[in-house]
Amino acid sequence: MRSQMNNEKQHIGQLFDRIAGTYDGLNHGLSLNIDKRWRRKTVQCMPKASHVLDVAIGTADLTIEMLKRGKAEQVTGLDLSEQMMAIGKVKVERLRSKDERLEANVDFIYGNAQQMPFDDASFDGVTCAYGCRNFSDLDAGLKEMYRVLKPGGQVTILEFSYPKNRFIRFVYDLYFSHILPFVGRIVSHDKTAYSYLNKSVKHFCWGEAFVQHLTDAGFQDAQFKPLTFGITTVYTGIKN
Ligand SMILES: C[S@@+](CC[C@H](N)C(=O)[O-])C[C@H]1O[C@@H](n2cnc3c(N)ncnc32)[C@H](O)[C@@H]1O
Repeated sequence: MRSQMNNEKQHIGQLFDRIAGTYDGLNHGLSLNIDKRWRRKTVQCMPKASHVLDVAIGTADLTIEMLKRGKAEQVTGLDLSEQMMAIGKVKVERLRSKDERLEANVDFIYGNAQQMPFDDASFDGVTCAYGCRNFSDLDAGLKEMYRVLKPGGQVTILEFSYPKNRFIRFVYDLYFSHILPFVGRIVSHDKTAYSYLNKSVKHFCWGEAFVQHLTDAGFQDAQFKPLTFGITTVYTGIKN
C-alpha cells in the first residue's frame, strides 16, 4: 500500500509538473472559460469557513475563487506537484498585489491526499476540484478529508461526470478522447499526459455512485449537483 502510494506520488507529481506551464491556458481555452464558472458555482455551494484545506490545489484556481468571494480567512493547499503549486503561488501573490484588502493567508504544502500530513479535525472546510479522479484509492482520499475536517465542517468536491443526454455524451467523448489529447500533446509537448487525463475521466464514478463513496467515508447528508448538462458535478457532505 505504502509503496503504491510512493509510486503514485512520483508518477502523478511528475505528470502534473510536466504540464504545469500549459495547464491553465488549456483548461480555460478548451473549455471556453466554462471551467471558471464551474469553480464559481462550487464556491457558492460552500459555507464561509475560517480555515479551508484545498486538496489537490494545483494552480490555485479554486482557492482564488474562494478568496475573491470571501469564503475563507485562511487556505492551506495540498498537492503532489511542486510546479503546479509554484504557478498557484504566483497567481495568489498577483491577486494580493491587485487587492490590498485581501487578507486571507494561503500556504502551499507538498503531500499526498491519501496520507495527509495534518492532525485530525484541523480544518473548518475541505475542498477538492478535479483532484479525486487522480487518486489511486478514492476511498483513502475521502477518508483523509473526513479525518482532517472538524465536526460541523463541509467537504465540497468538483469533479467531471458523465452527461445523460446522448448528444452531449457524443461531444463529451469526442472532446476527452480526441480533442483534448490531440491539442494537449501539441501545446504541452507531452505525449502521454493528456491521454492519461482522458482515461482518468472515463473510468471514474459520478453522481449517486460518488455520493455512496462520500457516505462510506463517514459524511452525512451527501448530495450532488450536476452542472452544464452533467458534464461536471459538485458534491457536498457534512461531518457531524
Ligand atoms: C486536474 S489538476 C486540478 C488542480 C486544481 N484543483 C484545479 O481546479 O485546477 C489535479 C491536481 O491534483 C494533484 N493531485 C493528484 N493526485 C494527488 C494526490 N494523491 N495528492 C495530492 N495532490 C494530487 C495534481 O498534482 C494536480 O495538481
